[in-house]
Amino acid sequence: MTGVRGASSIAALPVARRQGRQQPAATSEPAIVRLGHISDLHLADRGRYPRNGFTAKDCERHSPKLAKGLLDALQEVGIDHLVVTGDLTLSAEPREFERAAQLLEPWAAAGKLTVVPGNHDVWTEDSVDTGRFLRAVGPDGRGMRRPVPTYPHVVPLGAEVVLVALDSARYGEEPYATAGRLGPDQLRSTRELCREHQKQGKATVLAFHHHLLLPPERIPSDAQVARMPLGDADQVIRLVAELPVAALLHGHRHCAFRVDLPGVAGPVPILCAGSVSRVTDEPVRRARAYVYELDAGGVRGVEALVSGAS
Ligand SMILES: [Fe+2]
Ligand SMILES: [Fe+2]
Repeated sequence: MTGVRGASSIAALPVARRQGRQQPAATSEPAIVRLGHISDLHLADRGRYPRNGFTAKDCERHSPKLAKGLLDALQEVGIDHLVVTGDLTLSAEPREFERAAQLLEPWAAAGKLTVVPGNHDVWTEDSVDTGRFLRAVGPDGRGMRRPVPTYPHVVPLGAEVVLVALDSARYGEEPYATAGRLGPDQLRSTRELCREHQKQGKATVLAFHHHLLLPPERIPSDAQVARMPLGDADQVIRLVAELPVAALLHGHRHCAFRVDLPGVAGPVPILCAGSVSRVTDEPVRRARAYVYELDAGGVRGVEALVSGAS
């Protein structure tokens, strides 16, 4: 895992660095699940640009090598499951999805992968009309022969935690000014799932692409993502206030951050993973991956793997 170091850049939660997967020592101990989280790979088929509003130079902001290094690091530290919160591609080109599927193939083959689309994965009308994301990658990374609406995608993580993956990506003629949206059907299903899991004594972790809100410490690209918000973020904030949600995971903003929202049983961590492939010298925006330790009580620990951290 050359160039990747653990760091506690998401403060306030205890950082627990472990080598290898944790196994409960006795059946009476709560089963901790280790969930990896990456986002915003933005893999680019460089030879095809300029197109779709991007130049060839835009392709250089993200490096597949950084993403691969962090995926290898996640294998090394050991996780039970990996969630990828969208923007796998730069502009939803076919070869970009193929590369994303290749990169994530070991996780998909092991049945340890959950993926949601980002706004860049529905960048063009053609990509949406042909169901390109679902065909090539889909919710479990294995692609779908016949793409059909499939979210919420519900994934049990051990005996005590359930991941609910949602699709917030919406196509718009002006992609840089198009809001994401979960919509009433996904919101209704998510509410029902939260109630059901509570009855079963399980924690619910939500994951989708768009941010709920932006933190006060603004970076220049916040002006851009602010024009592409989650249209029904208010509904999600209300859901988090009214129903038990252990954590909410997202991407979209290429700078990791954590905020807590008031929840029914205490603060609910909203965790943005930033980008797993961002090429930058700026420490706060370095490519990174996260590992969350979860059980029925929610998030027990957060570990950051940061590319090039010293
Ligand atoms: Fe992105
Ligand atoms: Fe995005």
